[in-house]
Formats: sequence, structure tokens, C-alpha cells
Amino acid sequence: MKIKVVYDNKVGVPGLVEDWGFACLIESGSERILFDTGAEGEILIDNMRRMNIPPTSIERIVISHDDWDHAGGLSAILDVCDAPQVHVLPSFDRDLLDTAKRSGQLAPVDAPGWLTDKIWSTGPLPRINPVTETGDEQALAIKGRHGFLLLTGCAHPGLINLVQHCRKELGSAPRMIMGGLHLKDLSNEEVTGVIAELRGMGVARIAPCHCTGAEAMRQLGSAYCTNYVESAVGEIIEWP
Ligand SMILES: [Fe+2]
Ligand SMILES: [Fe+2]
Repeated sequence: MKIKVVYDNKVGVPGLVEDWGFACLIESGSERILFDTGAEGEILIDNMRRMNIPPTSIERIVISHDDWDHAGGLSAILDVCDAPQVHVLPSFDRDLLDTAKRSGQLAPVDAPGWLTDKIWSTGPLPRINPVTETGDEQALAIKGRHGFLLLTGCAHPGLINLVQHCRKELGSAPRMIMGGLHLKDLSNEEVTGVIAELRGMGVARIAPCHCTGAEAMRQLGSAYCTNYVESAVGEIIEWP
């Protein structure tokens, strides 16, 4: 299994474009699943082309939550895809649901469950400290030989809540976490507490990006050391 970062506010490979938002491509066997779509379809599609990812090869699209920096590229990518299944949450904004319907294969996620034999959705989880009227978010757990990798868009429901939810539903906490972790509004002491909880639950590797926050990323980097994995546009994370 490979996870390729195609949209992030940081670039890891020269020639690719950075922009605020998040999207990555999960390659599971012959199946390709796009998780989130960034803010701008043009940037998403351009980065994918430069990384040799034909949009027509995408069989599924999962939208984590309906913030513009995760769902903004959906309309443009659907224009160049070949009718993928689109996994949205029923509570998403009406316009976004209408856009998703254009694929002809709307697949709403209303409860935790497996989307494929290796990819599981947390189902809708409410946002904590809501700053907008929108709320629910889903994250994915990807099954590998060594356990689960938790892939988050923004982790608005709270990173610890997400990990605990996975542990409860799947029977084991993720071994690795990747994506936007939304720790940017936490104090250093609070981030230290989050890291201790993650470690206590068995999270052994971490690849934070997007809305994690620069200071939180620095703290995670020094805590996780060689188990801190760089995640930026062009980076490929292996989860065998
Ligand atoms: Fe975000
Ligand atoms: Fe967000």
C-alpha cells in the first residue's frame, strides 16, 4: 500500500505546487482512491499529472469534511475522472452533495464501515469547538501487515477522539497517523499531553502535515525522532 501526497501547503519534491489544503492518493493493489481534493482543482490535477497519476485511474473519492480546502477540487476532478464512487457524509453542505452526485455513483457514509477490504471509514464524527455551521468529518483506517494507519483530513473531531474511536470499533489503535492533525491552536503543554496519549495508545509513527501547526510539528518531530515521517506534496508513504 502506498499513500502519495498530491496536495498540501508544503512541497517535498521540486516541480510540484504547494497550496493550502490537503489531498492524497491511496494505492491499494490495483485500486486507486483519492482522499480529499485540496482547494483548487487545477493545482490538484497538475500535481497528479506530474506524479504520473492519471485521473481516469481513480475508482473512489473520499471527502473527509466539507471545508473548502478539502472539497474545493472535487468538481474539477470529477470532470476528468471516469465515474468514481464518491464517499461523502450525508450532513455535508447541499452544494457539495450536488457536485458529488455528478459522478453518478454517490456512496454516502452514515456509519463506521469498510469501503474496501483494506480501507475503513470512521463514519461521521462531530467537530469539536465548531467555528462554522458545518461539522461532521470522517477519517480512514488503512489496514497493513503491521496494523492500521489512520489518515485524517483535518482531525476536527479531535485527534485523540479519532484514535479512541478506531480502537473501540476496530479492536486496536492505529500504529501510524498521517494527515492534518489540527493541533495548531493547542499550547505546547497540551501538545505534549496529546503526544503522551498517542504513545500510550501505541501510535508508533507519525506523518503530520496540513493544519497540524508548525510548532506542533516541531514537537512531534523531536518526540517521534526517526519515526517522524515527512509528509508534503510529492512524498510517498509506504504502508505494507
Ligand atoms: Fe483543512
Ligand atoms: Fe478543515
